[in-house]
Amino acid sequence: MPKTIVEPFRIKAVEPIRFTTREQRDQYLLDAHYNPFYLRAEHVIIDLLTDSGTSAMSQEQWAGIMRGDESYAGSSSFYRLKDVVDDLTGFRHFIPVHQGRAAERILFSMIAGNGKHIVSNTLFDTTRANVEFQGSEGVDLATPESHQLGANLPFKGNIDVKRLRSFIAEVGAVNIGAVIMTVTNNSGGGQPVSMANLRATRAVCDEFELLLILDACRFAENSFFIQEQEEGYRDKTLRAIAQEMFRLCDGATFSGKKDGLSNMGGFLCLNGDDLAQQARNLLVVTEGFPTYGGMAGRDLDAMAIGLQEVLDQDYMEYRIATVRYLCRGLDQVGVPAVHPAGGHAAFVDAGSFFPHVSRDKLPGQTVVNALYSVGGVRGVEIGSVMFGEHAEFDLVRLALPRRVYTQSHVDYVIEVFEELVGEKERWSGFRMTYAPKQLRHFTAHFEPLT
Ligand code: F0G
Repeated sequence: MPKTIVEPFRIKAVEPIRFTTREQRDQYLLDAHYNPFYLRAEHVIIDLLTDSGTSAMSQEQWAGIMRGDESYAGSSSFYRLKDVVDDLTGFRHFIPVHQGRAAERILFSMIAGNGKHIVSNTLFDTTRANVEFQGSEGVDLATPESHQLGANLPFKGNIDVKRLRSFIAEVGAVNIGAVIMTVTNNSGGGQPVSMANLRATRAVCDEFELLLILDACRFAENSFFIQEQEEGYRDKTLRAIAQEMFRLCDGATFSGKKDGLSNMGGFLCLNGDDLAQQARNLLVVTEGFPTYGGMAGRDLDAMAIGLQEVLDQDYMEYRIATVRYLCRGLDQVGVPAVHPAGGHAAFVDAGSFFPHVSRDKLPGQTVVNALYSVGGVRGVEIGSVMFGEHAEFDLVRLALPRRVYTQSHVDYVIEVFEELVGEKERWSGFRMTYAPKQLRHFTAHFEPLT
C-alpha cells in the first residue's frame, strides 16, 4: 500500500490561510481570555476546533444550492431530501431542523422532564444540556473499556448493556425517557458502537418498552468501523450498514453539519405518529414550517447530496486514514492520545501529556492554549472545563473538518506538537476567571498561572 493519502478529490476553489507570528498569536490569546473560541478564525492557521459545519462542499452540492427551491411550503428541495432520508433511515416521519440541537430540544421537550432519566452510551454536551434544561438527568453508561484511554480495542463507544439493565431495575423503566445511542461516541473519543451492541440495546428497549434514539451525527463513520471490524459486515456497503443501524431505532436526531457534509442543517426522525405530530407542532413554533424547519431550501438540497457522498467508500477510507495518520504522528512525537483513533478526531490525553499540570490547573485548556501559541493550531478542550465535575479525563480534541485539509496540513500539526513536547515545562496551567452556567467552555475566561 502506498504511504501517501491521496485525497479523493481535486481542489476547485481555495480559501487562503494567513500565517501569523508567535508574538501575534500570544497577543490574540490574551485578547481572547485564553479561550480559543474567542479567536478570530482568520488568526488560526489550522482549525481543528470542530468537524461541525466546517466541511468543504462538493461541486454537486454547490450545483444543488442553485437548484434550491425556496418555496415556503411544499418545496421540491424538501422532497429531494426526504427521499434520501427515507431510503437511508426507514423512519415514518422526517422533520428538518436547522441543526442537531434543535432536534434535541424538540425531542426532549416531549420525552424528558418530570424527573425522567435519559440514558446513553455518552451524551454529547449540547445533548446533555438539552436534557438538563428540561429538568431531566442525563446518565452515561459507557463500557469499562471506554475508560481505558490507551486500550487498543474495537467499539469502545458501546453502551454497557449490563449497567443499562441494572439502571432500569434501579429507577424503573417508567422513569426513563429514552435511551440515546451516540454514534460515533463523540465525547468518548469518537469511538464507534458495534451493530451487536445496538442490537442488544434494542432487545433491552423492547423488553422494557423504552424509546431507542440514535444520535446519528457521525453515522457514516460509525458504519465504516462496523464494515472494517465487525464479523459479517466486510462485504456490506456503508449504505447497507447505515440502513441497518437506523432500522434498529425508533427515531434519530441528526446534525447535518457532520456526516451530512453540510454547513448547516439537521433532522429529527421518528416512527411514532403521535410523537411526530407533537414534534411538528413544536417545530412550527420555533423552527419553521414542516417542509423547511429552519433550513433554506438550498441547504436542504446540499444536505440531500452530502448524505449520499458521505457513504462513498473512497471518501470514507480517506477520511479514516487521515485521522489515523494524525494519531500515528502524535504517537511518534511522544504525545499520548486515545486509542484506537476515532472517526472524526484525534484526542490527546492532556492529563498524561502535561503531568506537571494538575487537574485543578486545567491541563486540557493548557494544551489548547500552548498549541495555538506554538503553531496557530486550534483544538478544543474536552474535560474539566467542558464537563465540570462530570469530567473523567482531560482531553484535547483535534477534529478534522471533512475534505478541507490535506496530508501536508496534518504533517504541520504533528510538527507543532513535536515543538510543544520540547517546551511543555513552560506551561504551568490556567485558572478560570469567568464561567456561565450552561455550556461554559464556549464563553469562559481564563488566566495563565505562573
Ligand atoms: N450530538 C453530537 C454527538 C454532536 O457531536 C453534536 C455537535 C450535536 C449532537 C449537536 O449538533 O451542533 O448541529 O447542534 N457537535 C459539535 C462538535 C458542536 O464540535 O462536536 P449541532
